[in-house]
Amino acid sequence: MTVTVISEAPIPRGREGQTPLLEVRHVSKHFGSVIALQDISMSVYPGEVMCLLGDNGAGKSTLIKILSGVHKPSEGEFLVEGKPVDFDSPRDALDAGIATVYQDLAMVPLMSVARNFFLGSEPTIGWGPFQRFDLKTADRVTREELAKMGIRLRDTEQPVGTLSGGERQCVAIARAVYFGANVLILDEPTAALGVKEAGVVLRYIAQARARGLGVIFITHNVHHAYPIGDRFTLLNRGRSYGTFAKTDVSREEVVTMMAGGEELEELGHELEEFARSDTAAAARLEQAVGEQLLNG
Ligand SMILES: Nc1ncnc2c1ncn2[C@@H]1O[C@H](COP(=O)(O)OP(=O)(O)O)[C@@H](O)[C@H]1O
Ligand SMILES: [Mg+2]
Repeated sequence: MTVTVISEAPIPRGREGQTPLLEVRHVSKHFGSVIALQDISMSVYPGEVMCLLGDNGAGKSTLIKILSGVHKPSEGEFLVEGKPVDFDSPRDALDAGIATVYQDLAMVPLMSVARNFFLGSEPTIGWGPFQRFDLKTADRVTREELAKMGIRLRDTEQPVGTLSGGERQCVAIARAVYFGANVLILDEPTAALGVKEAGVVLRYIAQARARGLGVIFITHNVHHAYPIGDRFTLLNRGRSYGTFAKTDVSREEVVTMMAGGEELEELGHELEEFARSDTAAAARLEQAVGEQLLNG
């Protein structure tokens, strides 16, 4: 299968006339002389899982930092529900309904599940100096929201640190959904998990999709991406290999494309190595010839 670099985000079949929840067009990002991203176009629609695939250094984190208001693109357009946006901070992205769950999760392990669920947006009762955390409401909402995702907690008072990695990811996802996210960005949510736990997280991603959210799922693991993804965007060294619908591409083809990128990269390194040793050999030859001329 040949791989062509394309830059337009194609309209997926059956989505004609719909406005994507989020879209970037021809986005680039430079850090000084480093080009982290070049000419990337992608979109996500309601009720779909868009997978962002690529090896280390491909530019995945840089792209989601643009989507989540951490970085501004150096070039290109960024639209939310069809309207151009220019985020100054992650708060702006959140206000626009874009929630990002990072791998480290920003949770406090010793605090309860309910406390963590409401971290930064605590419900309160009372007024003025008598205001305090509304434990009852927090407890009830946390329980309800987790139940909607299919998680039954024995005790929302238990510290988040006692949950498994997968459960913690799910709390973060449920929290984002509850606080009104339309787009959920998950940066490598399954990277540190075993097969079974990863499966649990994938199920919650499917739940979020069923509730009409657009999910951007970042991973370098095709085997996690393929079962859940509706579309796949492949990044390689800051460029896009294109976007593929699951209906058009097999798991093996996605694996091959990703491996193809790696192989090309490896080949590039090998050629550089050849060039270097060539130069070194030439230098040695030059020196030897020079010495011979001197001695001769
Ligand atoms: N703040 C930064 N300053 C300079 N270079 C950066 C910065 N952030 C990322 N990069 C570079 O951009 C490229 C893509 O990185 P990143 O987006 O983290 O890739 P990924 O998440 O796919 O592993 C890398 O070469 C990285 O070194
Ligand atoms: Mg990354």
